[in-house]
Amino acid sequence: MPGVSSARTQVAIVGAGPAGLMLSHLLGAAGIESIVIDKRTREAIQTTVRAGILEADTVRLLSQTGASSRVLSDGQRHDGIELRFAGTGHRIDFMALTGRSVWLYPQHEVLRDLIAARLADGQELRFETEAVRVEDDGAVARVLATDADGEPLTITADFVVGADGSRSVARRAVTGPAGEGYFREYPFAWFGILCEAPASAPELIYSNSPEGFALISQRSATVQRMYLQCDPDLDPQSWSEEQIWEALEARVAPHPLIRGPIFQRDVLRFRSYVASSLSSGRVALVGDCAHTVPPTGAKGMNLAIADVVVLARALRALMRKRDRSLIESYEPDVLERVWKAQHFSWWMTQMLHLTPEASEFDRRRQLGELQSVVSSEAGRRYLAEAYTGWPLDLESLL
Ligand code: DHB
Repeated sequence: MPGVSSARTQVAIVGAGPAGLMLSHLLGAAGIESIVIDKRTREAIQTTVRAGILEADTVRLLSQTGASSRVLSDGQRHDGIELRFAGTGHRIDFMALTGRSVWLYPQHEVLRDLIAARLADGQELRFETEAVRVEDDGAVARVLATDADGEPLTITADFVVGADGSRSVARRAVTGPAGEGYFREYPFAWFGILCEAPASAPELIYSNSPEGFALISQRSATVQRMYLQCDPDLDPQSWSEEQIWEALEARVAPHPLIRGPIFQRDVLRFRSYVASSLSSGRVALVGDCAHTVPPTGAKGMNLAIADVVVLARALRALMRKRDRSLIESYEPDVLERVWKAQHFSWWMTQMLHLTPEASEFDRRRQLGELQSVVSSEAGRRYLAEAYTGWPLDLESLL
């Protein structure tokens, strides 16, 4: 029947991305009820191409909490990456340096697993439901939304979590209408492609070249993901396949690439952002809505999961024992990792990309920096520790 509908839950979660769904999963395991809403369709969430690298502890959390069994069976373990510059590849051996690995398992597969797990547990997931505003009157919090039929919906909750990405609606309830925070823009973007071809390399290649950055990643035995640095305003349809392959090959030369038909193209803009505040009263922010990193260090989804580990523990204390202390310390508890990840993502980005105004001095200094990293065990180990992920405290959640 048309008209205003309403729902009541313990935790309302705005956004069915990795952060929102994982939080709902961890709360459900502790007997805490939640409703997750997302403006997209289930199909769109499960098919949009996003990042691909999971840290060791992200994989441990997904597999050991029953959120995903496929990550271990279908994901590929990677024990290192190659850093390329001046025509030479240098392997960073994660296993030898840290005893840890990462896993290549695309984000949309994580989402497919999490959605299936939430629905199997009988939890409420509402797709095509768009948040309009989040309110907190001190006694309860509310999400004002529009449902799949375009009708108004109010969800009343003890707590609301904003997990609705970089263009968040929920964020304003914490930061104010301007979405205040700390920003950095970059004068370049990534042109990403998916192609049908066998892998060109066994591990990821991050390449600095005089023509700009390129990243050779994988998806499966027959599908590959590759990126090349481009102008943020580039129209991805304006290049021919030949142009794309020539640009990629020039940037990883003399490493050969196996070409194949390109069936998907996108442009990914770069941004660093941390919200001025991550929680207030009965509302907290997680994932890209709280902070965005440029993609070069593969930190985005992992950082979102790390927020959720801390917030799930805090919400358990709040809902079970009326103990607000962990909610009060949520922001300082996550900020240390957030700023370490901001630094790492910025550092990888500036070391590997060519800025439009770079001088010959800047180019040579960058090569000096790369040489310092690969020729020093301490340098390689710093990169390996950050890339495989600083350990998460998972004990009380597993
Ligand atoms: C992929 C994306 C990244 O941002 C990265 O650093 C490594 C891999 C990927 O999509 O495969």
